[in-house]
Amino acid sequence: MINNRLNIGIIGAGRIGKVHAETIAFRVPEANAAAITDLNQDAAEQVAARCGIPVVAASVDQILDDPDIDAVLICSSTDTHADLTIRAARARKHIFCEKPIDHSLAKIDAALAAVAEAGVKLQIGFNRRFDPNFARVRAAVQSGEIGSPRLLHIISRDPAPPPVSYVKVSGGMFLDMTIHDFDMARFLIGDEVEEVYTAAGVMVDPAIGEAGDLDTALITLKFRNGVIGSIDNCRQAAYGYDQRAEILGSAGSVSTANCYPNEATISTGESVRRDLPLNFFMDRYTESFTREVRAFVQAVAEDKPTPVTGIDGRIPVVMGLAARKSFDERRPVRLEEIG
Ligand SMILES: NC(=O)c1ccc[n+]([C@@H]2O[C@H](COP(=O)([O-])OP(=O)(O)OC[C@H]3O[C@@H](n4cnc5c(N)ncnc54)[C@H](O)[C@@H]3O)[C@@H](O)[C@H]2O)c1
Repeated sequence: MINNRLNIGIIGAGRIGKVHAETIAFRVPEANAAAITDLNQDAAEQVAARCGIPVVAASVDQILDDPDIDAVLICSSTDTHADLTIRAARARKHIFCEKPIDHSLAKIDAALAAVAEAGVKLQIGFNRRFDPNFARVRAAVQSGEIGSPRLLHIISRDPAPPPVSYVKVSGGMFLDMTIHDFDMARFLIGDEVEEVYTAAGVMVDPAIGEAGDLDTALITLKFRNGVIGSIDNCRQAAYGYDQRAEILGSAGSVSTANCYPNEATISTGESVRRDLPLNFFMDRYTESFTREVRAFVQAVAEDKPTPVTGIDGRIPVVMGLAARKSFDERRPVRLEEIG
């Protein structure tokens, strides 16, 4: 810590690396983006220039070897997360790692073991927990405001699919996209899922199917406490990013709708209409990205557990593997079958 600010090195300057760099530079005064690195030097230089990051490191090692850097944000492609987590832990850096930690449970377990051995903090990037709307839904369940929860519905649709090159290394829709919803389901209900059943298909782009993936799915969840849930995913919604949730409990329900760039309603002789919702995660979840990074910085500064732990990172991967197995075998799959 220098001047009471956590010094952070950012690894990866793609879509999410840029979001986190901007978050730290412009919205988290208690942290300092001290360095950034990317295999694509131009990308790192552009983000550094925009966010006033003083060092564009030539390699990850340059960041890990810097004694002034307290923590790293791992924002590179998913296939690098487990290895970088292990290297950062051995270098005694606190770690914020984007989701998912890996697609392989063995690699996740190796990464979590390295973190435990080093005694550093680890937080996983399930930012939606920090969204004020979803946090309020959770509070309504936790406080008993809606009684005992019975049914959960999560709608989570992207505005447009990612490039097929991204799909090929993403681990598939369940580990790349639905993983946020698996985390949200556990977070909102405050209990674990024991069984999933998947109906899914390729309806948006045949190239996604040719890459071995799916783009549209409905997954039912059975929780240990009896709650029944559904996750409705599609890689394409014509009207933009669709992020909603509803819970029915014994004393009422709680729901949250999409977020809009403005609240104006235009009423004419032909129709009553409004503008489209905020288009994608960079705009829709700005506040949540700020809150999650602040929570990480606070956990390090106060030596407290992080709010989204390594185990919170592992369980949604188990759920994603179970969801795929359910689709492949056309049957409900219990999570204990996965590990
Ligand atoms: N929490 C969220 O809402 C959210 C949103 C988007 C992406 N993500 C996650 O963040 C990760 C990155 O996604 P993205 O959309 O930013 O991808 P991206 O392809 O836009 O960016 C990844 C960057 O990492 C760089 N990179 C790859 N290997 C590297 C290495 N060894 N060292 C340094 N840089 C390296 C690439 O050159 C690229 O610039 C993925 O794991 C994804 O699942 C999370």
